[in-house]
Amino acid sequence: MAIPLKGEDVAQVELHSLHLRDGLDVPNWILSEQERHRAAAFRSTEARRLFVAGRFLCRRILGNLLGCPPQALTIAITSSGRPYLPDHPDIDFNISHTHDRVALAICRGGRIGIDIERPDAFSEDEASEIMPMILSEQELNQVRQLDRQHRRDALLACWLQKEAALKCLGHGFLTDPQSVMLAPEDTTSSINNQVSGEPIFIRCGRIGDREAGDFQWAIATSRLVAEPRWQHHISGISL
Ligand SMILES: CC(C)(COP(=O)(O)OP(=O)(O)OC[C@H]1O[C@@H](n2cnc3c(N)ncnc32)[C@H](O)[C@@H]1OP(=O)(O)O)[C@@H](O)C(=O)NCCC(=O)NCCS
Repeated sequence: MAIPLKGEDVAQVELHSLHLRDGLDVPNWILSEQERHRAAAFRSTEARRLFVAGRFLCRRILGNLLGCPPQALTIAITSSGRPYLPDHPDIDFNISHTHDRVALAICRGGRIGIDIERPDAFSEDEASEIMPMILSEQELNQVRQLDRQHRRDALLACWLQKEAALKCLGHGFLTDPQSVMLAPEDTTSSINNQVSGEPIFIRCGRIGDREAGDFQWAIATSRLVAEPRWQHHISGISL
């Protein structure tokens, strides 16, 4: 994994994703005691499995990257719930999960946020209901000119990008999503963010295979020390 060493003026962005096959048992031995307590508190088995898988992926990949045993990695959480590495301020990461997928985005030399969703995340009716809460007036006018199917696709794209941006900024939906303005036609776009004034760069994509089905992703980066270089890994981690 070619993450540059400290001092090299390059922002490196990685996307790792893990498909949780049916019946797959995700081991929790790698988690901290605090994480195991949190896992045990989930009422939903599915939510617990996704949380454990997220931390498993994160500890395995980041431990490998930093040359330390995965269980020895300290992962702290901000007051708004954002996990980070207090001992490695030059490395940022973010996790997203949906159904049977977990994704991890890592950035050296900047801040990062990720969101993943399945293409059928919203029905057309749900899309119509959610749109006014998420989109700015201008975005809403653009999307309303589309037919119902394209409207749903456009909303999903906006949702992914905005959630990734809000996670990059660090407060999630505690920040008003309408304060983040998108250019929805672009696959790589910079956005105006009225929250901190910093530019945020977003890249989107779709990944799929016959077994796991498709999912869409958006990664937002900010405070980059240089133009990001991208890598994507489908994790071949054995569980
Ligand atoms: C952050 C947020 C958008 C994530 O929504 P979600 O539907 O769970 O979406 P995802 O699966 O994409 O992301 C979950 C992951 O985002 C990360 N995350 C949590 N809070 C975050 C935040 N404020 N900023 C960035 N990332 C965050 C976590 O790693 C979490 O996974 P984990 O709990 O398994 O470690 C949503 O939880 C939110 O808006 N939170 C606002 C802050 C809040 O309410 N905090 C209360 C708890 S302190």
